[in-house]
Amino acid sequence: MTALTLSHLAWTPLGHGHCHHQFQLRDATLQVGAGEFVGLIGPNGSGKTSLLRCAYRFSQPEAGEVKLDHHNVWKQSSRWCAQRIAVVLQEFPDAFGLTVQEVVAMGRTPHKGLFDGDSHEDRRLVIEALEAVGLQGFGDHAFATLSGGEKQRVILARALAQQPQLLILDEPTNHLDPRYQLQLLQLIKRLRIGTLASIHDLNLAAAFCDRLYVIDHGHIVASGTPKEVLTVTLLRDVFGVQALIDEHPLAAHPRITWITQP
Ligand SMILES: Nc1ncnc2c1ncn2[C@@H]1O[C@H](COP(=O)(O)OP(=O)(O)OP(=O)(O)O)[C@@H](O)[C@H]1O
Ligand SMILES: [Mg+2]
Repeated sequence: MTALTLSHLAWTPLGHGHCHHQFQLRDATLQVGAGEFVGLIGPNGSGKTSLLRCAYRFSQPEAGEVKLDHHNVWKQSSRWCAQRIAVVLQEFPDAFGLTVQEVVAMGRTPHKGLFDGDSHEDRRLVIEALEAVGLQGFGDHAFATLSGGEKQRVILARALAQQPQLLILDEPTNHLDPRYQLQLLQLIKRLRIGTLASIHDLNLAAAFCDRLYVIDHGHIVASGTPKEVLTVTLLRDVFGVQALIDEHPLAAHPRITWITQP
């Protein structure tokens, strides 16, 4: 079963339609299977965030289709999508004045009517989500006072409380120390929800992703298992870096060692 299908997407930032030097997402085709953890890698400015925005029905593509479980997302309401897709972004929401618990409870909003209060079920899901990210006891803290890494985990908890079919994450490990980077990715993997995540740390991508797509200048240039995709040639051609690649001594995925000598 497929959770997400992007076929032949094209998207251009507004106002740059006919300028040849500007960024364009071109002919992007990508799939996430149900329960699959798919990574999107590529250099700064290559189009990861732009592609993810198309996938969660924020940017409407000029051409191509975004399908969630065989439904074209642009033929569905934004509420329909919010009930099924949870998003964790690079920037934190402006949650000034809200407590952690209130931020996580926002994940329940798409499932409720306009004037519904929190049900027992809603409250249980919020508590469980905070436990899942190791922030039990933080419910009453003001979101604004948390550290970057704690905020990131609260936003993941909000996504979990949403009970989505598809998780979309834009550099979810950005603010996290090594322990929480590993913990967050392990948690996501255990959820077995179809997940599409942009990840800059290629060793983390290699360790956790079932498959990877590589994007460069708005074009998907490679896809496959981490072992198939992460080659010395690809890292040189796409990222412009030199690396040694071997198999991780303790696991069946590649290990990248950067070559930093001048
Ligand atoms: N709304 C917009 N208006 C103008 N330019 C945009 C817009 N959105 C994206 N771009 C441009 O498109 C290109 C791709 O941006 P995008 O944010 O998708 O890259 P990215 O791969 O996520 O990069 P990073 O790794 O730095 O997060 C960039 O050159 C960016 O400036
Ligand atoms: Mg980005």
